[in-house]
Amino acid sequence: PLVGELFGLRDLAEGLQKKLGIPEVIVVQGDADQSPWVKAELGRVGARVLKQAIQEGDIVAVTGGTSIASVANHLTPSASFKHVQFVPARGGLGERVELQANTLAAAMAAKTGATYRLLHVPDRLHPEALQTLLKEPQVQDVLALLQNTRIVLHGIGDAIAMARRRNYSEEELADLAEAGAVSEAFGYYFNEAGETVHRMPTIGLQLEEVHKAETVLSIAGGESKAKAILSFAKQSCQNVLITDEGAARALLSTR
Ligand code: G3H
Repeated sequence: PLVGELFGLRDLAEGLQKKLGIPEVIVVQGDADQSPWVKAELGRVGARVLKQAIQEGDIVAVTGGTSIASVANHLTPSASFKHVQFVPARGGLGERVELQANTLAAAMAAKTGATYRLLHVPDRLHPEALQTLLKEPQVQDVLALLQNTRIVLHGIGDAIAMARRRNYSEEELADLAEAGAVSEAFGYYFNEAGETVHRMPTIGLQLEEVHKAETVLSIAGGESKAKAILSFAKQSCQNVLITDEGAARALLSTR
C-alpha cells in the first residue's frame, strides 16, 4: 500500500515502464473501479494520445468495451483524421451493442470526421458459418484492411470478468479458469505467462497483426485489472499504456 503514497504519478509510470517493458506509460489519478470520472480521464488521455499518433491514411483497429468507448467520447473533429479509417478489430464478441467494436469504430469516425468500416459478424457463430462468412467479399475487404492496421487501440479485461460479461456458461467459465486465463484482449484470452489459452470464435484482427502494427495503444485501469495488464504485457507488443493509479499501485506491489 505504501507504493502509491510514496510515489507520484510520474514515478508510477516510470516504474510500470520498467516492470512491463512498455516504452510509454501514462498513469491518471484515481481508480476506475471506484469512480466513473477516472474512466472518463482514461478516455480523455487516450483521445489525446491517438490524435498525436495519427497520420494521414491510417487504418486504426479499435476494440469494444467501456474504456475504448470513453476514448470515443473524447475525440473531436480534426483535419488529421480526414483520410483515416476506423475498423473494428473483431466481429461480435457478445458485448452490449453500445460497447461493441463496430459501434465504437462508427462513433470515432463520426466524432473526428474520419471514415469507418463494419464487420458484420454475429456473436458466437458455428465454425462452419464462420467459414462461410469469411468468404464474403465484404468481410474479405475489411480483413484486408486489418492486415494493414498501423494503429491498434484496445482495452484489456480481466479474463473471467470479460467471459461473464459475454455470457459464458458456468461450465465454460470453469474451463477458462482451469486453463489459467487471466487477461482478455480482442477476443483472445491469455494466461499469466501471456500465452493464448482461448479465443472467441469470431472474425477479425489476428494476434500476429497486432504484433505487426506500428503503434499499439492500450487503455485499461482499475485495481481489478492489475493481473490482466501484467499478463497482456507479456505479449511485448504495446507502445503506449494508459492506466490509472489503482492499477499501477497494485501492479507495482506484485512481484
Ligand atoms: O477486451 C477487453 C475489454 O474490452 C475491456 O473492457 O474497457 O469495459 O473494461 P472495458
